[in-house]
Parts: sequence; structure tokens; C-alpha cells
Amino acid sequence: MDLILHVWRQAGPADKGRIERYEAKGVNPDSSFLEMLDVVNEGLAERGVEPIAFEHDCREGICGSCGFMINGVAHGGMHRTTVCQLHMRHFKDGDELWIEPWRAKAFPVVKDLVVSRTAFDRIVQSGGFISVNTGSAPEANLTPVPKSLADRAFDAAECIACGACVAQCPNGAAQLFTSAKMSHLNLLPQGQPERYERALSMVEAMEREGFGACSNYTECEGVCPKGISVDFIARMNRDYLNAKGKGELKTPMKT
Ligand code: SF4
Ligand code: FES
Repeated sequence: MDLILHVWRQAGPADKGRIERYEAKGVNPDSSFLEMLDVVNEGLAERGVEPIAFEHDCREGICGSCGFMINGVAHGGMHRTTVCQLHMRHFKDGDELWIEPWRAKAFPVVKDLVVSRTAFDRIVQSGGFISVNTGSAPEANLTPVPKSLADRAFDAAECIACGACVAQCPNGAAQLFTSAKMSHLNLLPQGQPERYERALSMVEAMEREGFGACSNYTECEGVCPKGISVDFIARMNRDYLNAKGKGELKTPMKT
């Protein structure tokens, strides 16, 4: 199949950037979107043109490195699919595709389709871990965890930190990511001692990074390749309000 690609090219953070048009001819329908770009890049390199920069690592939908907008939809719009797992058979011969980086103030463009997601790292650094002593492996096995809670925590832990939720949100909000990274700890017994401190510090770190506010558009859940539910945002808000003494627990919760 033959495709027309309109790709965002930006040499660096200071460059204004522009859309450039490329023809992708003879695309194998069984190749992935990134493999299609690899072939386009080989052609560009042969012509002495700088290849299109994009992030990738596992190409198996598990590492969270890849991601960009295709025709205005994060990861291209296939249900629960990262762009590395999106295959060209889902497009039609002659399609025109507009390929752009994540657009969010907190994710500045580094080059072409690559953005900096270090804001996510700083949110996790602020509390996305357990620092209390949880004992050794035998003790962990003696701590009962209800199956329903273990399953919920695992659902949240599926977040791969790709950033699609932020990119698709009209507000550029990071609530889905932050709530997932908080909930997989706050749901488990080992996460309880620091639960409210974690809620405070992660929400405040998120706000410092310049992400927008959540207005319940739920666009984030719609594009999330791991199906992270907006229910986790409600859970995060409850923990945050309780930490401030403004929720059901009227006394501010401290660890
Ligand atoms: S919540 Fe989903 S879309 Fe957002 S960073 Fe995690 S995996 Fe990506
Ligand atoms: S390259 Fe790892 S999730 Fe896409």
C-alpha cells in the first residue's frame, strides 16, 4: 500500500517546527507503524535527509517508550494498542496520515516526535514508592491481601507511563497517570503507612509540573493502551482530600 505522511519535524527544543510531507510506497500491511517509519527513515538517510526521530524500545507494548499522535489520536486510535503494536493493515491504500508529537506544556518537544516526559519521573520520585520496611519474602507471604484488592492494584500497576492520557486530554492533565502510580501502592497493605503522605506529595508534584486540571472528559481512559480506568482518579481525589482533612476523614491524615 502507498501512504502520504505529514510528519512534524523539529530539529530541537528551540526550533519552531513544521509539518513535512513524505511518500511511503509499497508499505507491507503486516509491518508495524514503527517498522513503516523505519523504512521511510532508510529512504531519507539514503537521500542525505535527517531521519524522523521517534522513541521506541520494546516494540511489544510494554515499556511505554513509544507514542505520538496519528490523525489527532494518541497511539492512533486502536483500542488498547500502543503505536509500536499498531499494524499497517488497519490503514487503507492512499491514506494520508498526520503524525505529530504529544502536545502538552509539561511534555516539551526534544526533537521531531520525541518529547521529554521527565515530569512523570518527578511525580513518581515524589512518592511513587514504598520506603517503610515491608519485611523479607517470607513475611510478605504472610501478609494477607484480599484477591479483589490485589487485582485492582495490578490493574493500576499496568500503567506504562507512555503519556497518551496527557496528550489526548484537552487540558493536558496527568490525573490518570498519577492516580495509577499512586493507587497500585495505596491499595495494598504495604502501602498504607505512607498512603496519605503519598497522595499529598504526588498530587502536589503533578501540579508543580504544569499539567492541566481534570474536567472529567475521560479522553485519557479512551486512549490508554492499558485500559487504566478513571475510577483511579476518584480514588486519588479521595485520598488527597482525606490527607488534607477535607474528605470523609475530617482530621488531616499524617504518617
Ligand atoms: S495511564 Fe495509560 S495512557 Fe496514561 S501513561 Fe499510563 S498507560 Fe499511558
Ligand atoms: S516501544 Fe515499548 S511500548 Fe512501544
